[in-house]
Amino acid sequence: MDDSTGIEQARKTAEGLVHSSGFGNEHSSEAVPGALPIGRNSPQRAPLGLYAEQLSGTAFTEPRAHNRRSWLYRIRPSAAHPPFVRIDNGALRGAPFTETVPDPNRLRWDPLPEPPAGTDFLSGLWTLGGNGDATQRTGIAIHLYAANASMTDRVFSDADGELLIVPERGGLLLRTEFGLLRAEPGHMALIPRGVRFRVELLDPSARGYVCENYGRPFVLPDLGPIGANGLANPRDFLAPVAAYEDVERPVQVVNKFCGNLWAATYDHSPLDVVAWHGNHVPYVYDLRRFNVLGSISYDHPDPSIFTVLTSPSDTPGLAGVDFVVFAPRWLVGEDTFRPPYFHRNVMSEYMGLIEGAYDAKTAGPGGFVPGGGSLHNMMSAHGPDHETFERASAAELAPRKVDDGLAFMFETRWPVTATSQAMAADHLQTGYDDVWQGLERHFRP
Ligand SMILES: [Fe+2]
Repeated sequence: MDDSTGIEQARKTAEGLVHSSGFGNEHSSEAVPGALPIGRNSPQRAPLGLYAEQLSGTAFTEPRAHNRRSWLYRIRPSAAHPPFVRIDNGALRGAPFTETVPDPNRLRWDPLPEPPAGTDFLSGLWTLGGNGDATQRTGIAIHLYAANASMTDRVFSDADGELLIVPERGGLLLRTEFGLLRAEPGHMALIPRGVRFRVELLDPSARGYVCENYGRPFVLPDLGPIGANGLANPRDFLAPVAAYEDVERPVQVVNKFCGNLWAATYDHSPLDVVAWHGNHVPYVYDLRRFNVLGSISYDHPDPSIFTVLTSPSDTPGLAGVDFVVFAPRWLVGEDTFRPPYFHRNVMSEYMGLIEGAYDAKTAGPGGFVPGGGSLHNMMSAHGPDHETFERASAAELAPRKVDDGLAFMFETRWPVTATSQAMAADHLQTGYDDVWQGLERHFRP
């Protein structure tokens, strides 16, 4: 089967997928009627000769509001596997990040270069940096991926954290233990900690970003005075319905554990879950469904108003990481500098661009381009570039729709330490500081 046949088949499969909607709620699904036990989780004999298995995403005893777990009813239990052995980590790195010293400079990268032919999602992961410690379940890693092949007879799971995937180029068909999801550019997908999945490409190549969250699972932010609705609405999050593979042939299962890759070859596909229920589930969300709220009087709100998901810490309001989207929106502020303001932040900001341009940065070659990214670490001064400042300061303040781009941010409480490959990369831009040169003195006492 050549690549184009595979892509065609994947696209056909991805069309018309059925979902179960909602965020954090109890979903349930069975691919075969009667596969899901009723009234209990672990009957003496599970229906249809299946094995019952619980997957815990939080400690058993965490408060009910935070508790994440699912029950899986599968052809073979996950325990039936040979020993895992270390395999090469490729360009994946894990926390703690100690290869370089944390850098206070503003950094910006162009997109990843094209990978060699035959690179799949897993082998195409490239770590930019991160913080915290995977063994302490704190912090994040920021990865990018570039792939041109589907994963075949291998699946991946991450014991270290959940994976928030932001496709920038090329659609993905995610075959998970829970069923199938489709993630196109402009969507985000989330694979919870420990969930096995395989990525098939819906286009000849794929590129995007991944936030690996070692901390508490992402939740929707509280809305406070906003009220009961707004920002990302829970019903727009789509979980899969049960779909299983009954495949008896060698399948490599790659497990990321405390920063390293380990693999075991099963004699069957572990995507063999016939029914499941629970709230530790993968999901996708269309970022264009984000209900953007903003000022209708004056001043640009803090960008926290654009938070899609947040990973809380023990300190209220202090996130391990926030996932923030700059979606199409109207700007109407009166007597207001409308792009995001100049800023020094105790939090550290990694920004990526899914398409188009971002309203505080000049687009085009050498600028902030789709697939690229910028890192503004703790207290580093940033904001509109010189050209944007001049334009926005002189702009006529008629209502204006900003709909020429889709940018996002991973904003984290700890500084991000880059990997040595990120600091040595050819696609690390030189002269990023220059965008803030030429900001003239206007002070006239
Ligand atoms: Fe900022």
